[in-house]
Amino acid sequence: MRAVTITIALCCTALPAVATTARPVTYNLPAEKVPPVFTQGDSDIVVSNCSACHSLDYLATQPRRKGAQFWRDEVAKMVNVYKAPIEPADADAAAAVLAKKFG
Ligand code: HEC
Repeated sequence: MRAVTITIALCCTALPAVATTARPVTYNLPAEKVPPVFTQGDSDIVVSNCSACHSLDYLATQPRRKGAQFWRDEVAKMVNVYKAPIEPADADAAAAVLAKKFG
């Protein structure tokens, strides 16, 4: 009974305090740069489909020589697990470009 009383007291006194002290915060983020490996023409399919949720550096820093299947699986994971809105033909094309660049 005593524990319940303490919980209720914390709940009802702490929340209004947080609400009245919260202030909007503004961040200045650096502009996203396209890594040099993705500046050639055939990279457009990767740049336009793979930079919405994370940096392109995330792709450029993956281990090399993992094979074409690795990139097909990676793109499939983005679509099936993380719900990336990528058309099947574009997903295949992006995986092929990544396999060509990184092995
Ligand atoms: C809808 C959002 C979204 C899009 C679009 C997206 N990704 Fe991801 N990606 C994620 C998330 C979420 C993670 C996991 C992040 C984490 O674990 O920190 C991730 C992680 C990754 C990783 C790191 C390894 C891994 O499996 O976690 C790679 C490589 C990757 N994405 C490649 C791609 C490629 C290639 C594309 C374009 C075909 C792409 N992503 C598009 C959401 C997305």
